[in-house]
Amino acid sequence: MKKFRRIGVLTSGGDAPGMNAAVRAVTREALYRGVEVMAIYRGYSGLISGDIKQFSIRDVSNIINHGGTMLYSDRCPEFKTAEGMQKAIATCDKFLIDGIVAIGGDGTFRGARDLTLHGIPCVGIPATIDNDIASTDFTIGFDTATNTVVEMIDRLRDTCESHARCNVVEVMGRGAGDIALHSALATGATAVVVPEVPTDENYIIEKIRRSRAMGKRNFIVVVSEGVGSDFSPAFTEKIERETGIEARFARFAHVVRGGIPTLRDRLIATQMGQKAVVELFNGNSNIVMRERKGHILSIDIDYALTLDHMYKKKLKDGELSAFSDEQIKTMEAYCAEKTEEVRSMYNSIDQLGL
Ligand code: ADP
Ligand code: F6P
Repeated sequence: MKKFRRIGVLTSGGDAPGMNAAVRAVTREALYRGVEVMAIYRGYSGLISGDIKQFSIRDVSNIINHGGTMLYSDRCPEFKTAEGMQKAIATCDKFLIDGIVAIGGDGTFRGARDLTLHGIPCVGIPATIDNDIASTDFTIGFDTATNTVVEMIDRLRDTCESHARCNVVEVMGRGAGDIALHSALATGATAVVVPEVPTDENYIIEKIRRSRAMGKRNFIVVVSEGVGSDFSPAFTEKIERETGIEARFARFAHVVRGGIPTLRDRLIATQMGQKAVVELFNGNSNIVMRERKGHILSIDIDYALTLDHMYKKKLKDGELSAFSDEQIKTMEAYCAEKTEEVRSMYNSIDQLGL
């Protein structure tokens, strides 16, 4: 089995609260096992340019409680090119990095898979507020972001109730409605609009009318950004026009991406960070960490990425050919279960938000 001397750790893609806790766990676990740690700054950009520093135990002191990422993050298109990859490999050679833990979303995992194919074993850790990685129940950062959204909607509700208004709230989530769904259910919203379920605008408008007739004064409609940025402002105007209820629009955007990580995010970040290092040192690379039904596990990156494509209905021609019939069936069952979970949450919001 490969003996590791030095590993790298990086954060990439959109930052997420809890990334620091993961960096700390990776660093401390590796050092505990006698392996040196190189901090790679600005994700794959730093790997290309050599923006790298050796970490000691004290370098990750006092970060477990901070949002953002102390390693900084970046989106690095150059890394997707053959030249970018060659530079990244050269950096690994220069700094004697013989394995990497990459913390980020599915783009980050694709980069980690490519690096592994080029001889640098990698393990991915899912961190993005969107929770849009199908292979894990939760990504690092989702809990903090959703709690922030809940707090902000609670505040809006106070003023909504006082003035008998409607507030349309757009929350982040480029490709997944999880932040919208979870926060809508937890705040008792009147309606939710997500890319996973077709929207019937007239149904929502009729529901607002109906619940007002039953004495309701606050109307919160939570919209996921995944349905398009033009939707919410236009829908706000339509609600006001067709119900006569004053409507206001608020876009929470990046505000919910920062802040002190919650207990839950710190725990999964720490557990995934520790386990990622153990897996790497045990010779298991090209994998990503996941939480499934409360357990911290790992799964092959290619399997995870294809599962994600299947769930998001983005499978490419021939993408399934690398998998056995049994694996495909398991993936299909998993996607069906997740789709059902979303449906059920959507229905609960509709049924209870009166
Ligand atoms: P996230 O990791 O949150 O999904 P991005 O999609 O922006 O965020 O990906 C982060 C970085 O990962 C990109 O800037 C790029 O450097 C790398 N990356 C993304 N997609 C690929 C890909 N298909 N192949 C190799 N690297 C990729
Ligand atoms: O990290 C995920 C995310 O916050 C999405 O919800 C959002 O669409 C995107 O990143 C915003 O990206 P940027 O930070 O580049 O504006």
